[in-house]
Amino acid sequence: MAIQKVGVIGCGLMGSGIAQVSAAAGFPTVVREVSANALEKGMGSIKKFLDGGIAKGKVTQADADKLLANLSGTVELKDLADCDLVVEAATENLGLKKELFGALDSLLKPGAIIGSNTSSLSITELATFTKRPERVIGLHFFNPVPLMKLVEIVKTIRTTPDVVADANAWCMAIGKTAVNCGDSTGFVVNRLLVPYMLDAIRVFEQGLASRDDIDNAMKLGCGYPMGPLFLTDYVGLDTTYYISEIMFDEFKEPRFSAPPLLKRMVLAGLHGRKSGRGFYDWSTNPPS
Ligand code: CAA
Repeated sequence: MAIQKVGVIGCGLMGSGIAQVSAAAGFPTVVREVSANALEKGMGSIKKFLDGGIAKGKVTQADADKLLANLSGTVELKDLADCDLVVEAATENLGLKKELFGALDSLLKPGAIIGSNTSSLSITELATFTKRPERVIGLHFFNPVPLMKLVEIVKTIRTTPDVVADANAWCMAIGKTAVNCGDSTGFVVNRLLVPYMLDAIRVFEQGLASRDDIDNAMKLGCGYPMGPLFLTDYVGLDTTYYISEIMFDEFKEPRFSAPPLLKRMVLAGLHGRKSGRGFYDWSTNPPS
């Protein structure tokens, strides 16, 4: 496999997890944030996860030390110059990604691969922001990244087979299971998951059942680890709303349209776990 050194753009919820699993698998990994504060916060969440793992007996101190030795943080894009793979996990903003992809294209060596963790933007469009569209690929991880086994590997019309093969080999090396798919908005998981989450909100909005009954119905009736309203809080109502807008725009199907309640909750700042309140109150443990 050609991938030896890995860069990650963004040390938020997803970027920190991606950097963590890459470093844990022995890849020298450098993660870039826009500010020292944001970087410190992201690195702090990795350390917190490792401490939790040690406390649970799931991670040894030696493994945690090795991981942290493989991981470095920076606020300078140029520190990613010698990476063989850069995974972009920045905010879902096309303008920002356009700028980043252009800068990465100029910075990285010709053979380097640029991957994006976007959950809803078109990989094909992101690739047009570079002069190496054949070396751009989607690498969509799931939250929480260290615990969720899946990566969707998204190939565009332009991505070459060697890039797809290297991406698959890297995902396997970091202990993930890859699902390969084409570049269609939402890929496989969100194509199925987002309408389900939106429908759960519609059921709640229409008063068919209470929050807890809806969540228990899917947990106890279908064996899902989280109910759909809890999961929407977990993913973020703002993120869910944003993805639904992009999917609706792409497919023009009502099942992707955001229920009015979701829009109102997002407008009101009830973004779920990240804001402390959504369908649940996250200031209590467990959320109530
Ligand atoms: N270090 C190491 N291991 C840890 C750990 C840590 N800090 N914390 C937990 N673990 C391990 C636990 O020991 C446990 O391992 P075993 O199964 O071997 O016992 C496992 O991880 C599960 O941990 P918990 O028992 O603490 O937690 P849980 O059973 O409640 O599961 C969960 C938590 C994995 C998040 C589960 O609730 C789940 O799968 N939820 C669904 C999440 C989901 O659907 N995510 C996708 C969202 S969509 C998305 O991300 C994409 C998008 O574009 C929107």
